[in-house]
Amino acid sequence: MSFQNLNSPPLLGGLSEAFLHKLSQAKKIVFFTGAGISAESGIPTFRGQYGLWKKFKPEELANYNAFIRNPELVWEWYNYRKKIINQAKPNDGHLAIAQMQGLFDEVTVVTQNIDNLHRRAGSKNIFELHGNIERNYCIKCHKYYNEDLDFSNGVPKCSCGGLIRPDVVWFGEYLPQDQFEGGETAAIQSDIFFVVGTSAVVYPAANLIHVAKKAGSFIVEVNVEETEISSICDESFLREAGKILPEIVKHLKSFNNKNI
Ligand code: APR
Repeated sequence: MSFQNLNSPPLLGGLSEAFLHKLSQAKKIVFFTGAGISAESGIPTFRGQYGLWKKFKPEELANYNAFIRNPELVWEWYNYRKKIINQAKPNDGHLAIAQMQGLFDEVTVVTQNIDNLHRRAGSKNIFELHGNIERNYCIKCHKYYNEDLDFSNGVPKCSCGGLIRPDVVWFGEYLPQDQFEGGETAAIQSDIFFVVGTSAVVYPAANLIHVAKKAGSFIVEVNVEETEISSICDESFLREAGKILPEIVKHLKSFNNKNI
């Protein structure tokens, strides 16, 4: 396993032979992403030095009982995050992943993020393991409400009288089965499995890294610090995603031009 550290020479100068070979042969690529890929869009991550969980308590904001106990507080939290997300734009990391769609047979995004930035960057084949902050549904009849909600009379309610909640996966809840299974199949079939901007501590999402590894995929980590899964990666870039991913696209494009 080779490390590209933060002060490394030209970003891809020291690329390992193994990774270069994998890149030239790969057909199916997966990008497994976390909050770190949206950090350069101005959206705070959850853990680490300036992480949201330093200021707020997930058990008070991101679980079903907290919502039933205090729906106003939980909606205040999600509306605060929605405001940040609505002002955010996809960054060079998201855009590079979208561009990779033209460079491989199949590119799949399996994201833990709820900010919709991969879709806004142009990525098509996306599995959202933790939901999407732009969608909402009634906790009683499960009717979806995807337009802007009316908070003028307090917490929005469904026509059936049930409370409306954000369509995001809270701690202790199951992941949407179709999204998880889609991500799992992509992980198993991948030639290269990029792990981008995630602390890889939240399961079952993080288990997909081990599923990919076990299936023989080449694991590439892109993170500004080492994580719990760095030891099982075949290549690690200790760089911002918005810097290294565009470099990989540039390398691939020059490689393809030379090999036409
Ligand atoms: N480029 C790459 N990685 C970055 C960058 C960057 N510019 N900035 C930060 N990181 C890394 C951090 O070093 C950290 O390892 O991104 C990671 C973010 O980790 P978390 O904040 O734990 O976010 P994530 O892994 O997505 O959390 C998983 O936990 O709270 C729940 O549901 C929430 O989906 C979330 C899940």
